[in-house]
Amino acid sequence: MKITPDVLEEKRGGDHHGTMVVRHIRHIAGQIRVPGDKSVSHRSVILGGMASGKTSITGFLPSDDCLRTLAGFSRLGVQVWQPDPSSVQMDSPGFDSLREPDDILDFGNSGTAARLMCGVLAGTSFFSVMTGDDSLRKRPMGRVVIPLSTMGAMIDGPRSGNLLPLSIRGKPLKGITFFNAHKSAQVKSSILMAGLNATGPTTVEEPLQTRDHTERIIPLFGGTVFREGLKTTVYPGKLTGTPIEVPGDFSSAAFFIVLALITPSGSLTIEKVGLNPTRTALLKILASMGANSIRVDPSLSPLSSAEPSGTIHVSFSELKGIDVPPEWIPNAIDEIPALAACAACAEGTTVIRGAAELRVKESDRIHGIARALSSFGISCEEFPDGLAIHGKGPSPALKGGMIDSFSDHRIAMAMATLGTRLPEGEILTIRGTDFVSTSFPGFSEVFNQVASC
Ligand code: S3P
Repeated sequence: MKITPDVLEEKRGGDHHGTMVVRHIRHIAGQIRVPGDKSVSHRSVILGGMASGKTSITGFLPSDDCLRTLAGFSRLGVQVWQPDPSSVQMDSPGFDSLREPDDILDFGNSGTAARLMCGVLAGTSFFSVMTGDDSLRKRPMGRVVIPLSTMGAMIDGPRSGNLLPLSIRGKPLKGITFFNAHKSAQVKSSILMAGLNATGPTTVEEPLQTRDHTERIIPLFGGTVFREGLKTTVYPGKLTGTPIEVPGDFSSAAFFIVLALITPSGSLTIEKVGLNPTRTALLKILASMGANSIRVDPSLSPLSSAEPSGTIHVSFSELKGIDVPPEWIPNAIDEIPALAACAACAEGTTVIRGAAELRVKESDRIHGIARALSSFGISCEEFPDGLAIHGKGPSPALKGGMIDSFSDHRIAMAMATLGTRLPEGEILTIRGTDFVSTSFPGFSEVFNQVASC
């Protein structure tokens, strides 16, 4: 039983939309699980909503983002219920019998929901309008609207359809061949979702492999997908509901991997984590930084979501700065804030390039990370497509104070993780931490379960 005070104190709401107060950690140990994978939870709900009949999802991530996608399908006439927060049951009349929503679909903070649902709604037979919160309404939608328009979609919105709110007049779509220059799985998935209801095949080609959850999950619902190198082709066809088991989110596990790595007496076991190779480049990056204390035990039976998973054991390691190979970035894109915390505790400089996509995430993450690290006293340089972080080694003599999360869940969690390396007596306050629940409800509880001051 823990007798020390909590390392991380969270207050929700208020003027700053939540705060977290973090202090020095003496020890970190334990065996944890992280909530379900956000990308796989969204796709399970979207395919379950388009497929006829019953879909049951276990390990679902009950975060604000994924609940928005679920609520969207309920408005489209799918019966939806949750026997418990991480289980979802859906009963859908099938894509052709979805009904016109009687109100605007609000996808909150979720870029994945907005982009993928744009691909779904474009091929329906009805009119819909989608919007999002202040952050999502600033994020580019043209990257999906333009190729969807080539398929015949009728979508309009501010800045020639580049921003939410978008109005979508559903129409029959035709298959296309499309080169996804953005290296974005959301763009690829939006076009593949539309392709499921188009006439003829739809092919998406990418310059580098992005996360492939959509390609893995469609066949489980009876759809047809062919993959050849970096080309994915989807064929139109009827989908049927199915049981899906979602693994723990590697992107959420990343904060705890980093926490154990940078804490001198740190040691953690993280169970049932998704180990899809298109998501786990952080492990390659950390190995190159000298982390020889991470062991991955893949589980022998793949989950019913066709996603590999397993257990990660991690303990403290001395790290050195590296130049991260830019071709690894798409498979570590959501882990860059966590990586930045590691880089601050490494000897030497870590250079991250080829990551311009970070500028259009929930916040401009390149700028947000640079600002946050500077207030810790870590010097960084910002590039248009990345940053250089001058690490201070395993005892980094950080400065406490107040930092902003820029309303970004991953910046908040990464900086809470780094805050545990403050000298004893120093305190860090992070503002804008309510957004953590968009991907990791219960973050502070798991944190306090394993960390003691
Ligand atoms: C996601 C893809 C990534 C990632 C996001 C989730 C997805 O975005 O950053 O958190 O589920 O497809 P991009 O594909 O736009 O890089």
